[in-house]
Amino acid sequence: MSAERVATAVAQPNIALVKYWGKRDDRLILPHTDSLSMTLDVFPTTTTVRLAPAWVGDSATLNGASLTGEALRRISAFLALLRELAGRTEAAVVHTTNTVPTGAGLASSASGFAALAVAGAAAYGLDLDATALSRLARRGSGSACRSIHGGFVIWYADAGAGVTPDLRSYAEPLGEARLDPALVIASVDTGPKVASSRDAMRHTVDTSPLYRAWTDACRADAVDMRAALRRGDLDAVGEIAERNALGMHATMLAARPPVRYLSPATLAVLDAVEQLRCDGVSAYATMDAGPNVKVLCHRADAPVVAEAVRPAAPSAPVVIAGRGRGARLSTEAAP
Ligand code: PMV
Repeated sequence: MSAERVATAVAQPNIALVKYWGKRDDRLILPHTDSLSMTLDVFPTTTTVRLAPAWVGDSATLNGASLTGEALRRISAFLALLRELAGRTEAAVVHTTNTVPTGAGLASSASGFAALAVAGAAAYGLDLDATALSRLARRGSGSACRSIHGGFVIWYADAGAGVTPDLRSYAEPLGEARLDPALVIASVDTGPKVASSRDAMRHTVDTSPLYRAWTDACRADAVDMRAALRRGDLDAVGEIAERNALGMHATMLAARPPVRYLSPATLAVLDAVEQLRCDGVSAYATMDAGPNVKVLCHRADAPVVAEAVRPAAPSAPVVIAGRGRGARLSTEAAP
């Protein structure tokens, strides 16, 4: 990094196979349950943070457009955490280039805050290890703490060790995972989502009579998922991931009023996935805070799976993703 205090980082989205849906602490972003994910090798986010005199104030662009309102407020609140940790007062000029469609349930906030944590920590002169970076990214967006790491990752709701709840919640790579699958991404709608995951999550915790059952199921799914990943058993991983995602959406649908991210096009993709299984192809679906579907399958089957889901998802090209790397510093600045 030059004396000018500028740093650039790249991060990729992650897709949860056991989901995080609901916080026990909104300010610190502490989840009710552990979650498990795979970091992808597609849709990188590149973020450059350049320090500026404090009187300038924080500013940010996303794909060249200036951010204002709530989006800028979230980034500025995150930068304030960095300033507090570093004992510095400078403002930051943030430039982000996102290649994932923002706000479409494809985890753009995960890659976004992971890249901002890594670039921001370097620009403010903080020397943080991956665990500390993961805790920090969590404060921007919960799922971002998992994109600090590559491959399969677990985010502990409470890892037990550490004096404060903040210190005890972070993500860590699942070194024991023995699987190298594909995730086929069927984007049925790349427009903005119906409700932010932040608001929808809080509403689900507050009003869904199924919420307690969801957290119980999630805890059991996390244990089963770890064992299935350790065995390298794609069918078990897929079955757990699909039932977990459907359980999360059922819990949201039971909220009052309901939160409905799934669309008729989502269900058409689910039909195609079920047909693939009837035809003997191991394929399993998962959906996040949006209508898009990610289909887990063996890498060798990915082209067949992509072909099968394409008619149900004509609005955007079907993308085949694999396991990707964690967030890292880069020498190429965001344009
Ligand atoms: O971290 P957020 O606020 O983007 O929430 C992510 C929630 C899900 O994507 C639906 C599930 C998950 O674990 O990633």
